[in-house]
Amino acid sequence: MSKLKVPFIDLQQRYQEEKEELLSCVERVLESGQLVMTPELGAFEEKVAAFTGVKHCVGLNSGTDALMMALMALSIGRGDEVITTPISFVATIGAIVHVGATPVFADVREDQNIDPAAIEAAITTNTKAIMPVHWTGRIADMDAILHIAERHNLLVVEDSAQTMGAYYRGRHGGTFGKANAISTHPLKNLNAVGDGGFLLTDDNAVAKKVRLYRNHGLEDRDICVLFGVNSRLDVLNAEVLSFRLDRLKSVIEGRKRNVNLYREMIAAEQMYIPPCKDYEENAFVMFITQCNDRDKLQAYLSEKGIQSLVYYGRCLHLHPAAEKFGYKRGDFPVAENQADRVLALPHHQYLSEDQIAYVAETVNAFYGAA
Ligand SMILES: Cc1ncc(COP(=O)(O)O)c(C=O)c1O
Repeated sequence: MSKLKVPFIDLQQRYQEEKEELLSCVERVLESGQLVMTPELGAFEEKVAAFTGVKHCVGLNSGTDALMMALMALSIGRGDEVITTPISFVATIGAIVHVGATPVFADVREDQNIDPAAIEAAITTNTKAIMPVHWTGRIADMDAILHIAERHNLLVVEDSAQTMGAYYRGRHGGTFGKANAISTHPLKNLNAVGDGGFLLTDDNAVAKKVRLYRNHGLEDRDICVLFGVNSRLDVLNAEVLSFRLDRLKSVIEGRKRNVNLYREMIAAEQMYIPPCKDYEENAFVMFITQCNDRDKLQAYLSEKGIQSLVYYGRCLHLHPAAEKFGYKRGDFPVAENQADRVLALPHHQYLSEDQIAYVAETVNAFYGAA
């Protein structure tokens, strides 16, 4: 097995591939002299709404802002509890905390997504909403979650940051809840040149409020009807994202192909790869395995030229900033066990079959599997 380099991230390759179109976006926008809130932003929002199947998309400057504004527009705040998962990026609970509400955690299933039975057990008289996270681009069990929400009269706000191009029973992620957030951070499948994100909703009042809020609450240049913030998706990114949206399916296909190769080639039973259910289409923003001796395996892969990342080694309830919520290790055993075992392997669309085979062989060699 000769040594190959296998990078985790593909952004430079992506630039080389798209250079001509990206530079022409830059030229078009700069030549127009119009950089914020132009009709191009509106056109991009309509394109996303049509792609995902919602009434409104509101372009914002990050997925975190989209989450916060979803909660804010639904009047979720002080005294309210929002049930979510311990397996996510910290922005999930950061958004809940920033609107004044309290995150309440519910454990996950083997696929790393929130367990509906645990949601039900965490409901109190203060619960106002459920915030599932579609981790790695695999949609949480929305039938069960919507059923619980309906029975207990709760709102659903999806942290669908990783969900562009992911489907559950044929329906696009980020379209199930009342207001939902997508990130276009550079490491997402649909990625801006810098930060970006948007909110998806079918609710006219939510869309109207967030459109105002993202632009200082200005109804027009002279009239402020509520105090807002500056969180507009800039026009350059709207143009880049519009171009990239047309390529999203092929990006996901490339990632899926690599994940399927891994499934065939990794023989080691010490590495668990959650299977895809027949009703889900995972967007594979990340390819996260669960494995024995994770840290030793990661060091071994690194020695062999293979980059891998731990997403994440710490559950949300165990961050120092979350101490005030009173959780401790042992509260969410499934999630905590996963945090000790997770390892994301490189799977991006520019990797060759030889590179994937090399990673799989290296994993097998580490565990002594054939
Ligand atoms: C699950 C999840 N939630 C929230 C966010 C926050 O999105 P952003 O980085 O665009 O603010 C991200 C991505 O970074 C994420 O992966």
